[in-house]
Amino acid sequence: MPKIIFLPHKIILPQGAILEAKKGETILNIALKNNIQLEHACGQSCACSTCHCIIRKGFLSLSGGSEKEDDILDKAWGLESESRLSCQAIIGDVDIEVEIPLYNVNYVTEY
Ligand code: FES
Repeated sequence: MPKIIFLPHKIILPQGAILEAKKGETILNIALKNNIQLEHACGQSCACSTCHCIIRKGFLSLSGGSEKEDDILDKAWGLESESRLSCQAIIGDVDIEVEIPLYNVNYVTEY
């Protein structure tokens, strides 16, 4: 079983987490099942960008992104070349390392 390593995030996950994942699940579903409260304002319909994450290791093992995902990602705060929407990125066979960006379009306070 692949693992998802969530890097620490000041507010959402100060200690970080290492989770067992099932191939074929989305990063977001695995996070939510483990009580990691990643935002998902559009209900996982690839329409918001609040579930944006950056894949620090294992990017190429994930399912391919779509044109629609790329369009939505363009609105994400802190976009990088290895950014994905966690509701669209499906786990493959390899461990991945995920960074939750400090902000998203719904955060109105500064940390
Ligand atoms: Fe809205 Fe992922 S939850 S794009």
